[in-house]
Amino acid sequence: MEELKSAVYRLMVTMLISLVMCAIQYVATYYSEHGTLPSWSTLSLSATSEDYTTYESEIAANVVKPETIVERLRDIGGLSRVKEDIRANVLVPLQHPDIFFGAVESLHPPRGILLHGPPGTGKTMLARAIAAEAKCPFIALSLSALENKWYGETSKLLGATFSLARKMQPCILFFDEIDGMIRTRGDQDQSAVYGLKTEFLSHMDGIQTTQHDAFIVIACTNCVGSLDPAIKRRLPQQYKIDFPNNNERTAILRLHLKKSGLSPVIIEEFASSLNPNVTGSDIRELVKAAWASQRKKLMMSTQFLSKIKSGRMSAKSIESITGKLKLHNLMQAAQEKKLMES
Ligand SMILES: Nc1ncnc2c1ncn2[C@@H]1O[C@H](COP(=O)(O)OP(=O)(O)O)[C@@H](O)[C@H]1O
Ligand SMILES: [Mg+2]
Repeated sequence: MEELKSAVYRLMVTMLISLVMCAIQYVATYYSEHGTLPSWSTLSLSATSEDYTTYESEIAANVVKPETIVERLRDIGGLSRVKEDIRANVLVPLQHPDIFFGAVESLHPPRGILLHGPPGTGKTMLARAIAAEAKCPFIALSLSALENKWYGETSKLLGATFSLARKMQPCILFFDEIDGMIRTRGDQDQSAVYGLKTEFLSHMDGIQTTQHDAFIVIACTNCVGSLDPAIKRRLPQQYKIDFPNNNERTAILRLHLKKSGLSPVIIEEFASSLNPNVTGSDIRELVKAAWASQRKKLMMSTQFLSKIKSGRMSAKSIESITGKLKLHNLMQAAQEKKLMES
């Protein structure tokens, strides 16, 4: 009898020790990934992939881990007021969900954010940077893509998206090109479109009423005019991301020309020679084209190609051979792309 007692006792002690070890390991891993200790809400809400339904798992395939996102707010040129606002009203709450999604309603951040403006102005980049800086998962959904793959199942997937966000919180739920998803589409299946829209509205209403859900919906659109007013009302915090002005163009150019070796004065002069409807995306493509044209001769040389083949050429060494970017390559690329008056 005594022996049995001591065996049970030993077993319980062993189990307790392994439980404590597991907890320590979890906290250590969480600390190394997030730089903070997990809160109680994180502990109780963290879900593993086994806890997901089939639809949630399908959506989970679209989840971007914050550590894999390279964009940061400081990489976005211009938009200083928007960035400031987002730092205060979105980033801080997502970083401290226990405080900002708790009982004090006045502290709750806006649950629905709409970024609207012309294509290429950095809306998607901004949403990704928010997730990266808040260090929270980014559930990116383009329903038009899902609709093609899962015809007839989109409303289930939409429901799964919101329930997954609840399991992954704190997180960001991102609907890119939301107009394409919710707008009434010509002669297609009107009832399905209508159903999807109603479903979206009810999920958005749901997150307004369930106060402790620590996730934020960010939606983007290039054509805010065609967005249903009911949807707009559910995305009350709206930012217009417009064409950059001259100062903003200069800031964006500076960021993309960081490695060019061109002086700030030259960059400023070049920025003011660009057309007023040049976007950040145009600038990125322009700078790429200028580098490509500067490297063209090198890329065609047989000596260079044989060095690449034999592994004697790294990306770094190509950069150093290319040297500083020549202004005339930049000007030429801008003219070819019709970004400046010739
Ligand atoms: N304000 C900006 N500052 C720096 N780069 C920008 C900016 N706007 C756009 N870009 C560049 O253009 C790319 C495409 O922008 P994106 O975010 O996709 O635009 P949108 O979603 O508004 O169509 C970005 O990945 C980035 O390289
Ligand atoms: Mg976009």
